[in-house]
Amino acid sequence: MKHLYLFGNWKMYLDFEESFLWAKQLAERMKDLPTHITSAVFPSAISLKHVKDVLEDSPVEIGAQIISSFEKGAYTGEVSAAMCRSVGVTYALIGHSERRHLFHETANEIRLKIEHAYAARITPVICVGETLSERQAGKTDEIIMMQIQSALHALTLPPEPTMLIAYEPVWAINTGEACDPREAERVHKLIKRSVNDVCGRTVPTAVVYGGSVNPQNIESFLAEQSIEGVLVGGGSVKAHDWFELVSKMGA
Ligand code: PGA
Repeated sequence: MKHLYLFGNWKMYLDFEESFLWAKQLAERMKDLPTHITSAVFPSAISLKHVKDVLEDSPVEIGAQIISSFEKGAYTGEVSAAMCRSVGVTYALIGHSERRHLFHETANEIRLKIEHAYAARITPVICVGETLSERQAGKTDEIIMMQIQSALHALTLPPEPTMLIAYEPVWAINTGEACDPREAERVHKLIKRSVNDVCGRTVPTAVVYGGSVNPQNIESFLAEQSIEGVLVGGGSVKAHDWFELVSKMGA
């Protein structure tokens, strides 16, 4: 059975109290998660510690939606990778399209964040994806390869890094219009080849798909060989959707 990742990106959807209550449901209903599934949820920074406490004895891990591109120091408002690690964070989303496009995160910042994440023993979930106009212009592959190249080029990686990439076509995020699973599979294969090319060696890489994943379409994604899980936004804060997704992953 292939190993699967189930990631829930809570975005800016839940306040502190709502995060706490939702985490309590996860702790209760996901306590017997089978070992072929790795699951993590990504609350907002203010709820990380509390959600971690609630999920302390649960197989569900916690991730940060954002970490700083700086390591430490006088950077008002920033939260460092090490700070996240100190409250039990084990994953971080890096390069999410909402950060790239709405907050103009640069390729260099993304690269630095990846470096800081690994240094703090946090696994980065590196998000890549093309916009609609890039896809329409036939530039999907070029954009994906460029994003992988700029994220990983000359990066000091741990000896055996857990390499996790999320393919999230920008036009599929929060639109209800998911990518065709066969096309996602094709891009996932391209991502794996690109990681090896940029790193100059074979780096075992898991690629998850994100963008309007729901209980109706998840199985068609997981049926593809190179789709090793999903990154879910809207559906990760709706109890009915989330637990359907969990059960469709074989839990
Ligand atoms: P969505 O978001 O599931 O709401 O489309 C996915 C994501 O942004 O990670």
